[in-house]
Amino acid sequence: SLPRILVTRAIFPDVVERLRAHFEVEANPEDAIWTPAELAARLADKDGAFTTGSQRIDAALLASAPRLRIVANMAVGYNNFDLDAMNAAGVQGTNAPDVLTETTADFGFALLMATARRITESEHYLRAGRWTQWSYDMFAGADIHGSTLGIIGMGRIGQGIARRGAHGFGMQVLYHNRSRLTPELEAQCKATYRDKQDLLRSADHVVLVLPYTAASHHLIGAAELALMKPGATLVNIARGGIVDDAALAQALRARRIAAAGLDVFEGEPQVHPDLLALSNVVLTPHIASATEPTRRAMANLAADNLIAFFDGRGALTPINTPNATARQGG
Ligand code: GLV
Ligand code: GLV
Repeated sequence: SLPRILVTRAIFPDVVERLRAHFEVEANPEDAIWTPAELAARLADKDGAFTTGSQRIDAALLASAPRLRIVANMAVGYNNFDLDAMNAAGVQGTNAPDVLTETTADFGFALLMATARRITESEHYLRAGRWTQWSYDMFAGADIHGSTLGIIGMGRIGQGIARRGAHGFGMQVLYHNRSRLTPELEAQCKATYRDKQDLLRSADHVVLVLPYTAASHHLIGAAELALMKPGATLVNIARGGIVDDAALAQALRARRIAAAGLDVFEGEPQVHPDLLALSNVVLTPHIASATEPTRRAMANLAADNLIAFFDGRGALTPINTPNATARQGG
C-alpha cells in the first residue's frame, strides 16, 4: 500500500494532486489550525508529513507518531523542528532552501528601503487626509545609496542582500557570521567581516538574516541597540526571538535608533502592542518569501523531498542525520 502523508496546512491544490499520485494523502484544504493534540492524532498513522514552518515537531509529538519517517518543511528555516528529538526517533527532516533566496533578498531590500525612506508611515499620513502642504523636512529619512550596510547572518540570503547593496546601491557592506566567507565570496559580495559590536557601531542599516537558535535568542537587545547609530535602521527578516521586541520598542520610542522594519515577531502572529503603537516601525506579516512562483517552488521542493525519500533515493535537502536503527521498516 502507498505511504500515508499528512499535509498540515492548505497549499497549492496542484501540489496536493502531485502528492496524491505517490501517496495516500490527508490534506487540509480548509486550512484549519490544529492544536498540537489534533496534529498528534492525525499523525498517529502517517509515514510522512508536509509542514509549513509553524508546526512544532518535538519528542512528545514523535512519541505519538510511531510510523513517521520524514517531515518536509516548506520553509528554509526549521526552528519548529527539535532536531535532537527527530534524530533520536530516526525521523528525517528537510527544508526548502535555495528556491527562495533571491525573492527573500528582494524583500529584505524592500523592507530596508520602506523603513529608511518612511514609505508606509508617509502613506498612512496621506490616507488619513493629513497632507495639506509641502514642507522641507516632511518624512525626511535616511539614504540607502552610499551608506554602510551591516548584515548579520551571511548565508545565501544575506549574500543576496550584500550583492544588491554593493552592486546596486554603492553601499559599503559589512557582515557578521558564525564563520567567515571564502575570500572569493567576500569579493563577489564586496563584503568585509566585522565582529558584531563593531558592525553595530559602524552600520547605517543593519539587516538580520540568521537562523533562530538558542545562540541567536535576543541577539539584539537593549545593549546591542545602544551601540547603534542614532540615525540607524534595523531590519529583521529572519525569525522572531532574534530581536528582543520589548527592548526594540523602547529604543524606537526613545528614538535611540531611527526606525525598524520587521517581518517576523516573537510569538507571531501576535505582535508586541508597543510596536503596534509606534509610527517609526514598518510591520509586515512574515511575507519575505511570498511571491507566487517562489511559494510554488518551495511547495514543490517539499513534495519532491517526500517523493524522493519514499522512492528510496534519499531526501533532496536533508537537514539532519537521523539515527538509522530507530524505526527501520516502520
Ligand atoms: C520563512 O520564514 C522560511 O523560513 O522559509
Ligand atoms: C539560510 O539558510 C539562507 O539561505 O540564508
